[in-house]
Amino acid sequence: MNAETALASVVGTRPQFVKAAMTIRGLDERGFPQRLIHTGQHYDREMDEVFFEDLDIPRPDVNLGVGSASPSRQTGAMMDALEAYLMESGWTPDAMVVFGDTNSTLAAALVAAQHQIPLVHVEAGLRSYDRSMPEEVNRLLTDDLSDVLCAPTPRAVRQLAEEGIEKGVYRTGDVMRDAVLTYRQRAEDRYPVERVAGHPAGSYVLATVHRARNTDQLDRLEAIMDGLGRLERPVVLPAHPRTRERLEEIAVPANVKVRAPVRYLKMLTLLGGARAVCTDSGGLQREAYWCRVPCATLRPETEWPETTEGGWNRIVDVDPEALVRAVEELPDRSEPSGFGVPPRGETAYACVVEAMVEELELAGADA
Ligand code: UD1
Repeated sequence: MNAETALASVVGTRPQFVKAAMTIRGLDERGFPQRLIHTGQHYDREMDEVFFEDLDIPRPDVNLGVGSASPSRQTGAMMDALEAYLMESGWTPDAMVVFGDTNSTLAAALVAAQHQIPLVHVEAGLRSYDRSMPEEVNRLLTDDLSDVLCAPTPRAVRQLAEEGIEKGVYRTGDVMRDAVLTYRQRAEDRYPVERVAGHPAGSYVLATVHRARNTDQLDRLEAIMDGLGRLERPVVLPAHPRTRERLEEIAVPANVKVRAPVRYLKMLTLLGGARAVCTDSGGLQREAYWCRVPCATLRPETEWPETTEGGWNRIVDVDPEALVRAVEELPDRSEPSGFGVPPRGETAYACVVEAMVEELELAGADA
């Protein structure tokens, strides 16, 4: 193998830790030397460190410690710190791997492009077609700059083609699905449902709300609480720090139990035991689908329309009545389809690594 080949993965937020856990494993399996760079976008222990423990991810080689700020300042500060790290360490990776659509993703993509470091985007080609979402802007720009575009679904491949992006595009399946399949049993063994949820399996609803639009527009947050309050069931709501803050400004229904964010394995347990999930998270929509848990999406659209097949995911936005129907109307849901599965082999992460090797002509240990 070419001893010079070295790869950098850049992460910063909870869902990226999950995705990177899988691709780092894939790169390890192929014997590639690699470094993990953490921007510091998420930094609370329960938003950060516990994920590394649960997912067996090696400690980051560096934490840039950027933390919270307005989107532009945060992105700029990450670029500044990442460039400084590369310059000061005198280390230039052969490729930089970024995940999803956060400010950490875009910051790393821009630095890679400016330093002519080949860029790999895991979760390329997703679109909400709503440019008021910061994530949509981040993913459009990142896809445009990427050399290897790992698209999780056939739809993502098509959406890239519609924008004229065909070179370097590979359908890989979804690495978040790998993570659910890898960790679900461990989660259930370590954290039994009733102990974590405080309610028997099937009796409660799991809810999460963290998107800027839902936390910053209080009328939307109030409408969501109205819908959850109409459910005649307990609702377990692990809240992002910003959501927790906003909830102090409005009335929270008595059946809604707000608690601190939970670690990845506990979240998988909570999800697996839920009657249904109400969420604005893209990751949780897919995890719900693979765990066969009905989902109500608290947004006007989804980047994952495949999850709506068979009624498994319903787009309810903040309509309280639609939320109640999505949770209570269970019987006519057919078996979920094979959405997000890798096109060949067992795992999406192996397909991601294969795409990198092929497109960038990387010499791996088993090459
Ligand atoms: C970010 C991503 C979002 C992703 C989410 C995953 C962007 C634009 N958004 O949103 O796509 O779904 O991560 O969770 O990158 N805060 C803390 N402690 C933390 C982290 C955040 O208190 O460890 C608070 C701070 O007040 C901060 C706010 O949460 O200002 C927002 O955090 P930020 O990282 O900017 O975005 P997220 O909402 O977490």
